[in-house]
Amino acid sequence: MSSNRGQLFSASMMEAIKQRFHYVDRDIDNRERLFFDNAGGSFRLKSALEAFAQIDALPDCPERIHERALFLQGIQARGEDDVRRILNVRGGSVYLSLTASAAMFDMVRTVMENVPGTNAVTTILEHPSSFDAMTMYCERTSKELRIAPSNAETGGVDTDAIVALIDDDTALLSVMYASNISGAKLDIATIVERARARKPDLFIIVDAVQHAPHAVIDLQKTPVDGINFAPYKFFGCRGSGVSWLSERLAELPHHRLAAKDKGVWELGSPAPAQFAVVSAIVDYVAWIGAQFSDAEDRRERFVQGMQRIEEHERALLSLLLDGVDGQRGLRAIEGVRVFWDHDDLTRRDLIAGIGFDNLDPTAAVRAYEERGVIVYERIATSLYSGRMLKSFNLDGAVRISPLHCHAPSDVARFLAVTEDIAIASRLAG
Ligand SMILES: Cc1ncc(COP(=O)(O)O)c(C=O)c1O
Repeated sequence: MSSNRGQLFSASMMEAIKQRFHYVDRDIDNRERLFFDNAGGSFRLKSALEAFAQIDALPDCPERIHERALFLQGIQARGEDDVRRILNVRGGSVYLSLTASAAMFDMVRTVMENVPGTNAVTTILEHPSSFDAMTMYCERTSKELRIAPSNAETGGVDTDAIVALIDDDTALLSVMYASNISGAKLDIATIVERARARKPDLFIIVDAVQHAPHAVIDLQKTPVDGINFAPYKFFGCRGSGVSWLSERLAELPHHRLAAKDKGVWELGSPAPAQFAVVSAIVDYVAWIGAQFSDAEDRRERFVQGMQRIEEHERALLSLLLDGVDGQRGLRAIEGVRVFWDHDDLTRRDLIAGIGFDNLDPTAAVRAYEERGVIVYERIATSLYSGRMLKSFNLDGAVRISPLHCHAPSDVARFLAVTEDIAIASRLAG
């Protein structure tokens, strides 16, 4: 199933998918716009916003005994089941926080304050939410922070580089599933297996914010202690981060209301509407799965759907790199450099990083916007990119992150705009 060049959705499926999202072809002011910054916040499912509005319209406190309160409890319970379906995990705790970053800080702090050890391991590519949490709590608990370097060719981090840092005294490994800068996937299954071979009871926390919307995650196969994702990058809404914690992590001392069970991480009243959003995401992906399989089971349909999304996105990545509809691909456009461009597309999420010979990334992003295209500049002076870019010896890159609801014609249009910018910058230079 997982071919290196992927497989596009049919034209009719593509149309049906586009229909389910807001603003794919046109912006709110009805102007044509190509939004290729989905790693910063993805297109919203219409059904997710409807579910949010419908549930949030109810004034009822879920912690009551009346009918509508019980209904809201059911929405939350279904949302928690769906979080477990997304991750293929049983038991443990589901924790809804305001942002994925906030939960990451909480999970890191809890392990670092309670698990014995003299060091903790992470990678240079982590988002600040985990890297800064690791730095802060290593300082506070007097542990050595060990940082695995990046691999400039793959845009990722080699498994060996991470495993080599782990020993009997490692309290925590915090590692991301895929880089939100390069799109490179880390080999989490092998990392977890080999890390646990070094230290069987090692605590492992995984940041899946970048990767979760792009492929199947299966914690039955790859057991970790904590993992998070962000609905607003997963076709849902802003306003929450979703985490799952293993029982042993959830039950470590943490901020909690004393009357609640030991493993509960919720503080106060999470919004049932946010759980409805998670269920709307699973409904949607399972709907895609149902177009290709007669599986009855909701997880199985979700898996089929995610696999189709992954295949379509891989095909789009291939077109982006090598061209489509007579349009040259990024690899062949004069004046454009493609970073972290290794050939095994199965190891990459749908992200590309490029540079222009005659244009800095910020000017390039403005040039794209003038032409109706939204992309993102990652620059070495930024809080969110500096450390990672420096590890690759780069000053900056333009990040391109389409989504599975884009069609090959969208990629062709993007490539035409890129070529136009490259020509214009050459003439100006
Ligand atoms: C890989 C990764 N981790 C964590 C985060 C943090 O997510 P949030 O802003 O929802 O806290 C992001 C957001 O950009 C991300 O890309």
